[in-house]
This record gives sequence, C-alpha cells and structure tokens, in this order.
Amino acid sequence: MDITVIGAGYVGLTTGVAFAELGNNVRFIDIDEEKINKIKEGVAPIYEEGLQEMMERNMSRIKAASSYNEIDGVVFICVGTPSLQDGSINLEYAKEAVENAAKNMEEGLIVIKSTVFPGTTEKILLPIVEKYSKKISIAMNPEFLREGKALHDFLHPDRIVIGIRDEKGERLLKELYKPIDAPVLVTNPTVAELIKYASNAFLATKITFANEIGNLAKLLGIDVYEVMKGVAMDHRISPYFLNAGVGFGGSCFPKDLKALRAGAKKLGYDMLLVDAVLKINDEQPLRVIKLLEKYMDVRNKTIAILGLAFKANTDDIRESRAIPVIRELLKKGAKIKAYDPMAMENMKRVFPSIEYCDSIDKALDSADACLILTDWKEFENIDFQKMRKKIVIEGRRILKNKEGIIYEGICW
Ligand code: UDX
Repeated sequence: MDITVIGAGYVGLTTGVAFAELGNNVRFIDIDEEKINKIKEGVAPIYEEGLQEMMERNMSRIKAASSYNEIDGVVFICVGTPSLQDGSINLEYAKEAVENAAKNMEEGLIVIKSTVFPGTTEKILLPIVEKYSKKISIAMNPEFLREGKALHDFLHPDRIVIGIRDEKGERLLKELYKPIDAPVLVTNPTVAELIKYASNAFLATKITFANEIGNLAKLLGIDVYEVMKGVAMDHRISPYFLNAGVGFGGSCFPKDLKALRAGAKKLGYDMLLVDAVLKINDEQPLRVIKLLEKYMDVRNKTIAILGLAFKANTDDIRESRAIPVIRELLKKGAKIKAYDPMAMENMKRVFPSIEYCDSIDKALDSADACLILTDWKEFENIDFQKMRKKIVIEGRRILKNKEGIIYEGICW
C-alpha cells in the first residue's frame, strides 16, 4: 500500500520505516529540509535502535519531500503536540498538517498518530478535513513507542488500537497492520485518544507509587526494591514500571499528564490523582540534595553529577530529573562537574556554565560528592578513589560496588 507520513520525528520515522519493511511504499513529508535531505540519502536523522539498518534495506520504497504536492494513499499525522504554558497541547502543527494533507487529497484516509486530547480528532481535526472533501475518512491510531526502543515496540506491540469512524478506515488500517502479530482493538477516535493518555498516566502513576512507597521505605531504613519485589509477584500488578528513583522524565509522560490535567480542568473536572503524580514527580529529584545535605553544606563544594539523560541509552534530556537537581545545586552555590556518555551536548544548551567532563574519572577528580542520576550501564562499576570525599548519593539503581564510600540510595 502507499503511505504518506507527515512529521519525520522518532514516531513518524519509526512508523514509516517499519511500514516500508512490511512492504509498503512510504513518502515522508517534513518542514525540516535537513531531515528530508538526510532521509533521501538513506541516513536516519534520529537515533533509534535498528532504524538505520532497516531504512537502508528499504530505500527502494522510501521517498521524502518537504512539500505536500504529492500525497499518496493513507496519510499518517505524526507531528509534535508540545505543551502550552497551562499544560494543554499546542495543536497548531497537527491542524496545519491535516489542512495541508486534505488540501492535496481527493479522497483517502487521514490517520492521527500524534497524541491529542480526547475529542480532538472528531471535534477539531475532522471539520478541517471536511472543508476540503467529504470523501476523506479520518481515524486515530495512537503510538505506544518508548524512545530508544521505538522500532521494537512498533513491530512487537502489546496491542494495536484503531479509532475509526467508517468501514474504509477499519479496512485500510487492518490491512496495514495485518503482518504484525498483535491483538487489534477497534474503537472510536475519542476512546483511542483516551487509551493513549490513560496508558501513559497509569505507567507514570506506577512509577510514582513506587517512589512514594520508596520515600517511606527510606525513612524506615529498608530497601524499596525488596518491597516492590514482593508487591510485583501479584500477577495483577506485574514487576514493570515499579523501579523507584528520582522520578520520570522524557518527552511524553510529563507532557501527557499535564495535558490530561489541563484538558479535564477545561471540562470542569480536577484529576487529583494525576495532579498528585505530577507534584510528587517534581519534588522527587530534590530528595537527593536533601540526602547530600546530611553530610555537607553544598555551598562552594564540587559535586560530580553522573548521568544527564532522562533515561539510559538516549541523548535526550527533555524533562530529565537531572535538570531540577543541577538548578537547585547552582542556586545553593555548589560547583558542578557533569558527565554523561551521550547527553552532554544537549545539556550544554540548558546549563552552559557548568563543567562538562569527558570521563567519569575527570568528573570525580577532587569532587566532594557524587550524584548518580541516570542508570547507564557504565555506572555499574566506578572507581571513586579520585574524589576528595567519597560521598555517593544514587538516584537511579545501577551501582554495584559500594566498598570504601559513604553511600545513600534515594529510596533504598
Ligand atoms: C514512555 C512510554 O513507555 C511509551 O509507551 C510512550 O509511548 C512514551 O512514553 P519513554 O518516555 O520513551 O516512553 O520512556 P520510558 O522508558 O517509559 O521511561 C520514562 C521515564 O520513566 C524515564 O525517565 C525512566 O527513567 C522512568 N522510569 C521508568 C522510572 O523511573 N521507573 C520505572 O520503573 C520505569
């Protein structure tokens, strides 16, 4: 089948390349010329595990353009829906993409894959399509892709959710997803939109629940990982997303929970649980500073920060829990020496004035304390010998050797 993907970010690129792998002809459209040129050269403009190799294998089926004058077949809208000041989503890119697509189509199907607040597809985007043609169907097909594992998650999903309004939408989407071995849930667009938000809100709540139990466990002098091991043995709970630490970051959880809260408020409903999850998540990273201050006044001290990315195996620092920690330490007059295997260039845009070190050793050299804030595998075994004082506070569970140091875990 012919497919057009509008928005070649980690969702759009993954979606398009995976559909090409499944035998479809794919055309990417993006306003970023550089991205389009890279795709034309067979170079993936973003890193996702396995994406470059899969792209190279399928270049005969992949095209790219920065204009809308050629739209083929089923059109997937994969543009960003970033947060506005009040937490609600900025729909301008999605509306623009839908308008430009509909303008250049006689008939066919437009599939919203961008995360949009429930009701958006039918109440805001469909009227835009109908301005141009009554023969274009619209559907909503949320993504459940983790950054770094997006290709795996696309090809091996737990479920495929398709929110459709007519037989054409159901037929075309079922045909596209047929090669993927996963249950297909057919529903309407608004239910599909809320399934996406509710899934992310629940995962973030699981994490935050583990963090809150962890904060109590810390006061009791016990290890929350032992507690959660027992809790997770209940098949209704499962062991996943119960790893306590400095909290959740990334481009999705914080944005989606704020959008859910803001959208519900506009409908006159206060989502108290979502609000509490966001509040706990804001405070959680600062707990590593409170632990550190048990041992020293951080003013004029040198603090080594190992880990800047919002999670391991990515250079992405969006909503990274390292950001509030660094901000607070600078406010308290501490000197920062930071190291991260991938994310330092991105963090320099947020904190240009702190010292970035190109190795763990250099970051630890003469440091008064060390905070571990991302669970990079290379942090499993660290030699702390070069530190002035060997005080280590861990915000993510990764360190294996704790001999010869004063050690504290945020929730263990
Ligand atoms: C998430 C969802 O997993 C994915 O389904 C959705 O489509 C997009 O958002 P992502 O943001 O890429 O994916 O990262 P994820 O691996 O889910 O981790 C999110 C954050 O939670 C990270 O900061 C991670 O460190 C943290 N986390 C995760 C925990 O603190 N504890 C856990 O047990 C799991």
